[in-house]
Amino acid sequence: MNEELAVKDYVDRESLTAYQLSALRKTLERVYQNVPFYKQKFDELGVAPADLKSLSDLSKFPFTTKYDLRDHYPFGLFSSPLKDVVRIHASSGTTGKPTVVGYTQNDLQIWSEVVARALMCAGITHEDIVQNAYGYGLFTGGLGAHYGLERLGCTVVPMSGGNTEKQILAISDFGVTALCGTPSYFMHLVEVAEKMGHPIKNSKLKKCVFGAEPWTNEMRRYLEEKTGIESYDIYGLSEVIGPGVAMECSCRQRQLHIFEDHFYPEIIDPATGEVLPPGEEGELVFTMITKEALPLIRYRTRDITSLHYERCSCGRTLVRMDRVSRRSDDMLIIRGVNLFPSQIEEVLLETEGTTPHYQIVVTRQGALDTLEVRVELTPEFFSDEVRKLESLRKQLQERIKSLYGLSAKITLVEPNSITRSSGKAQRVLDLRNLSS
Ligand code: DLL
Repeated sequence: MNEELAVKDYVDRESLTAYQLSALRKTLERVYQNVPFYKQKFDELGVAPADLKSLSDLSKFPFTTKYDLRDHYPFGLFSSPLKDVVRIHASSGTTGKPTVVGYTQNDLQIWSEVVARALMCAGITHEDIVQNAYGYGLFTGGLGAHYGLERLGCTVVPMSGGNTEKQILAISDFGVTALCGTPSYFMHLVEVAEKMGHPIKNSKLKKCVFGAEPWTNEMRRYLEEKTGIESYDIYGLSEVIGPGVAMECSCRQRQLHIFEDHFYPEIIDPATGEVLPPGEEGELVFTMITKEALPLIRYRTRDITSLHYERCSCGRTLVRMDRVSRRSDDMLIIRGVNLFPSQIEEVLLETEGTTPHYQIVVTRQGALDTLEVRVELTPEFFSDEVRKLESLRKQLQERIKSLYGLSAKITLVEPNSITRSSGKAQRVLDLRNLSS
C-alpha cells in the first residue's frame, strides 16, 4: 500500500504537467461556479477557466491573500456546501480574526497521503513508534501529522504540545524512535530531559520531523549534536492544507520536495506580483490542484524561497523549494535597516555561552527605534563574574553591528527565564506602536 504512495514522488515531468493542467482547469471551473468572490475576480480581470491552456497561463488569474480569507470569515471562500465539510481548522489569529479552513472527506484523505509521503521522505516506516508533539486542536499540526502517521502504519503516541515531563517519560518508556514537533519546543524538551536524568542521547529517539516555524541550519546542528538525532524539515500552512505541503528528503540538502500533484507552486516578486524563473528567490504562491472544500487560487504565502527543478539525488522528480528562513512580513525595519529574526539566531548559535532561547524587543523612544536582544545564557556559562558577562555582551553587540549595521542593547538573562512555548516560539515583541 505504501509503495503505491511512494510511486507518486517519481513520476516523469511530462505526465505530471499534463495531469496538473487538466486538474487545475477543473479547480478553476469549480471555484468560478461555487465561490462568488472568485467569479467576481475572474470577471473583473476578464479571465475564464478555459483560458488556462498551459500552466504558465495561471499567471493571468488573480491572487488570494490572507485578507481575502478574513474578509470572508468564516466560510465565505468555501467551494463545498457545509454539509460536505467534515473538519474545520483555524489559524491562531494573533492579529485580527483567525483564518478558517475546511476539509471534505476527500481532502482529509489527500492530507493523510501527503503527510505519509512526507514521512517516507525522512525514512520513517510502519515500524517506527512516533510521538506527535504538535498541538492537537484547531492548529493543523497535531491532527494533520496524526492521520499521516496512521496512514503510514506507524505506532502513534498522540501527546500534543506541552506536558513536557510526560513527553520525556513516554519517549523513554515506549521506546519512541521518531518525534514530530516544533524545533523550539523540542529544544525545551531536551533541556528538561537532561534535568530529569533521561537525556535524549540515551533514548531510542533517532529522527525528528520539525516544522511549523523557521529554524536555522545552526539550530539543526545544535540540536543534532546535543541529542544524536537526525532532523528533517516539514513545511506547510493551514490555508493550503496544513503540514505535508513539502518535505526534506534523506539527502538533507536544505531543500524540500513539494507534493506537486496537489499543490502547484509559483515564485513571484512580492512587490510587483510578476512570476520569477526557477532558482530566483521570491514569495511562494500556491494553487490547490485537488482540494474540494477550500481550493484557493494563487494563495500568497508570504514565505520567501526559490524553486529548483533539477532531479534530486534521492531520485524524486518533484520540484524542490529552499528551506524557508523568513517571511516577507516578519522583516523588522529598525532605523531603516532590514532585519530578520533568523539573522539574530545565527549569531547566537555561533557564540559560546548563549542558547537559542532569545527574544527580540523593538521599542520607540522619541523618534528612534531601539533594538534589544534578550539572550539566555547556558547554565555552564551563567555566573556572577561581571567581567566575563560584560565581554560576552560586547562580543554579541559588535557581531550584530558588524554583520547588520545595527546597534543593539544586549540583555543577558538567566537560564530558563525566557518563556517556553509548547508550539510555535514567539521571538519578536514589536512594541513600537505602544511606546511613545
Ligand atoms: O504551521 C502547518 C504545519 C504544522 C507545518 C506542522 C509543519 C508542521 P500555519 O499555522 O498556518 O500552519 O503556519 C504556516 O508557518 O506560512 C510558514 O511561515 C511557517 N512554517 C511552517 N512550516 C515551516 C517550516 C502550520 N518548515 C506558516 N519552515 C508558514 C519555516 C514554516 N517556516
